[in-house]
Amino acid sequence: MSAFTSSTHGIPVTTEVPRHVAIIMDGNGRWARQRHLPRVAGHRRGVEAVRVAIKASVAVGIEYLTLFAFSSENWRRPAEEVSILMDLFLRALEQEVAKLHANGIRLRIVGDLGRFAPRIRELIATGEALTADNTRLTLTIAANYGGRQDIADAAQRYFAAHPEAALPGAPPLRADELTPCLAMSYAPEPDLFIRTGGEQRISNFLLWQLAYTELYFTDLLWPDFDATALDAALASYRSRERRFGRTTDQVQAARG
Ligand code: IPE
Ligand code: IPE
Ligand code: MG
Repeated sequence: MSAFTSSTHGIPVTTEVPRHVAIIMDGNGRWARQRHLPRVAGHRRGVEAVRVAIKASVAVGIEYLTLFAFSSENWRRPAEEVSILMDLFLRALEQEVAKLHANGIRLRIVGDLGRFAPRIRELIATGEALTADNTRLTLTIAANYGGRQDIADAAQRYFAAHPEAALPGAPPLRADELTPCLAMSYAPEPDLFIRTGGEQRISNFLLWQLAYTELYFTDLLWPDFDATALDAALASYRSRERRFGRTTDQVQAARG
């Protein structure tokens, strides 16, 4: 069961540094095209940028970093690109898990893993088990993830655990009852959402959890995203007033 309630239910404690940052890493293809390189070159540099982002997140004290690596809609891409992305994922797991562990990072993967190769699933299972007790940063990779399916799965899990809730005359289901059934119930909701690559959309990422997240969009392409770019996003975050439905006066009074 989750230690975290929903932002639409209670009022989360907010801090200067966001506890949880969720990123849509977009723009690898355009980064490559600008250089007349194949798209794969952009994806390779994208993996480099992931390393940089993890390091920078640890340095500033972010507790949860969630990265959208492959959406449930990305299977629509040409088979060759999908296969290259799978290969990069496999290699990253092979090469990085030990380093993550050495740095005290807990690794979690969310998404429908059923479509991944057995070797990838194996590496995920051993990587998650190896790093399960680490506390410095929780790194979540969303792979074959879709926000809508996450909500549908949560409902299914809820009714499987509470069959009486489906009976006629049962009390109406409250939104916060689904929260512990979501794939990321181990994490608080994201405080800050970042999307690189210039598009201003959610693309079926964490639909439920982004209800009260501060949104930040940058034209930088993902391979160019670095510690300075993260600092700019964090500065923007610090300038926001998170009201969670209240008035500014109430927020200021609560701050004391
Ligand atoms: C993000 O970069 C990586 C994945 C979606 C896997 P893109 O590959 O979407 O890059 P653009 O948007 O085509 O530039
Ligand atoms: C979103 O990027 C998914 C990931 C970064 C993994 P896309 O490039 O797939 O998003 P759309 O298609 O432009 O919305
Ligand atoms: Mg894209």
